[in-house]
Amino acid sequence: MSNKKRDEAPLFERMREHFNKLPASFHVPGHKSGRGADPAAASFFEPLMALDYTEISGLDDLHQPEGVIREAQELAADCFGADETFFLVGGSTVGNLAMIMSLCGTGDILLVQRNVHKSVLHGLMLAGARAVFISPVLGGDSGIPASVRRSDVEDALNRYPEAKGLLLTNPNYYGMGVNLRPYAELAHSRGIPLLVDEAHGAHYGFHPELPESALASGADAVVQSTHKMLSAMTMGAMLHLQGDRMDRERIRTLLAMLQSSSPSYPILASLDLARKQMHTRGRELIDQGLAAVKLLHCGIHSLHGLKVLEPPAAHEAYDSLDPFKITLYDSTGTLTGTDLQELLEEAGCYVEFASGAYVLLLLTIFTSLEDAQRALDVCRSISTRYLIERQELRDTSPNTMYKPLVFSVSEPVPMSSPLFTNNQEKNESIVLASLSDSTGQRSAEMVIPYPPGIPLLYPGEIITEEMTNQLKKLVASGARFHGSAEVLRGYLKVRQDGPDEKTANTID
Ligand SMILES: Cc1ncc(COP(=O)(O)O)c(C=O)c1O
Repeated sequence: MSNKKRDEAPLFERMREHFNKLPASFHVPGHKSGRGADPAAASFFEPLMALDYTEISGLDDLHQPEGVIREAQELAADCFGADETFFLVGGSTVGNLAMIMSLCGTGDILLVQRNVHKSVLHGLMLAGARAVFISPVLGGDSGIPASVRRSDVEDALNRYPEAKGLLLTNPNYYGMGVNLRPYAELAHSRGIPLLVDEAHGAHYGFHPELPESALASGADAVVQSTHKMLSAMTMGAMLHLQGDRMDRERIRTLLAMLQSSSPSYPILASLDLARKQMHTRGRELIDQGLAAVKLLHCGIHSLHGLKVLEPPAAHEAYDSLDPFKITLYDSTGTLTGTDLQELLEEAGCYVEFASGAYVLLLLTIFTSLEDAQRALDVCRSISTRYLIERQELRDTSPNTMYKPLVFSVSEPVPMSSPLFTNNQEKNESIVLASLSDSTGQRSAEMVIPYPPGIPLLYPGEIITEEMTNQLKKLVASGARFHGSAEVLRGYLKVRQDGPDEKTANTID
C-alpha cells in the first residue's frame, strides 16, 4: 500500500465533498443537516449533524460496500494486518455476537475464558451454544483475573475435541495480557480458530513498547473497540479476519442482521480517520501518549502511599501490561478504589473504573501532558492529605485473601436466555436450595464472588461439590457477591423440573 493511499480517508473525504456541494436534502435523516436540532442544543449538535449522512449516491452502503466504504475497510485491513476488516457501528459488542454466531450453532461447544464481557455470553445465548469455561489465573498479588493457562486450554481441547473454537480476551480491562502465539498454535494444531476479544487493544502492534497485536500473533478473528483506545467515536469498532478458518460470508450476513440498516456515517468516518492516524503517524502518536503516561507513572512513584500496578514479574498469569492503563491503589490500606475515585473526581479528574482497592485511569495516545500533570497534582495532594503519616503495608492487596478458583475447565454449560425458553423449560421452576443440597443441580443464577469478579457459577452450570465448598469458604471469609442475592445466607437458586418439586421457597 503506497504512503499516499495510507494518507487518504476515502469515506471521510467523500462526505466532506458532499458537504461542500451545499446539497439540499430530500432524504433521511429528518433533521436536515442539523437544522432540526433543538435550539437549546444546536451549538453542540449542528456541527455533528451536518455530516450525519446516510446511504445516498456516492456514499456507498456498509452492508454491500462497493465504493468508499469498501476502500476504507481495505485500508483498515492493511493497517491492522487483516485479510478483511468490517467496520462496526455497534461496538465490539456486535463484533463478538457475529464472530460467535458465525462459528457456533445450537449445542456446539466454544472454549471461552470464564471472565468475559457479557457480549460474549450473549453471543453464546443467541447461538444456543454451550460454553466450556476456562478459569483465568489471578495476576500476581493484585488479585485481578488475568489470562488462562496454556495447559488448561490444552486440557480443555483434549476433553472437548469437538469444540468449534477458542475465544480469549486479551488484554483485559486493566491491560494485562499474554503472548497469544502459543494459544494460536495450539488452536490451529487442533484445526480450530482462535477468536480474540481485543476490545482494549486496538493500539497494540504499533510501537515497540506495546505488545504484539492478536492478528500478528496468529488469531483468526479479532474484535477491537477502536473507540476505546484510538480516536473513533463511541460505538466505532472493527472486526478483523485472517486466513480461512472463519466463514466470511456468514459473518457478513450476520452483521447485516445484527446492525442497523442506517449505520451512523459520522461513526464510520471516525473509523476511517482513526485508521489513517495509525497508518501514517501511529508510532509518533504513541510516543506522544507515552510521554504523558511516563509523567504520571514516574510522578506517582515519588509519592508516599500511592502505587500503581507494575508490569509483570516472572509469573504466569500475564506477561504484558498496557502502559496506557494506570491501575492506582493506596498501599497503606487507608483509601479504597472508590475513595480514590471520589477524590480524583472532586478535583475534576474523571476515571474509567473503580473497584475494591483499585482505581483505573485510562490514558490514550491523545492524553495531554497537562492532563497527566493535573492527575498527578491530585495524587500528590491525596498522598499529603491522607497517607503521609501512614505506614505502607507489605501485602497491599486486600484481594489476596480470595484465592483463585481451583477448578480450571468446566463441563459444557448450555447458555440459554429466558427469552428463548421452550415449553419444557417454561415448566421448570427455580427454587432455593441450601449450598449443600445444591450439589449436582443446575444453577439458575450467576454467582460472582467479588473480588476477584470471576463468575464462579453461570446459569445452567452444574454445581459441583468443589464449587459449593469454595462458596462456603468464601462466605465464611466475608467475601461479597454480585449476581446472587441469597448466597450469603447459604442458598443458591437452582433449576428443578415439575410442580411437585416446588418448595415454599419457590421464586419463579
Ligand atoms: C473485554 C470487552 N469486550 C467487549 C466490550 C464491548 O465493547 P463495546 O463497548 O465497544 O461494545 C467491552 C466493553 O467494555 C469489553 O471490556
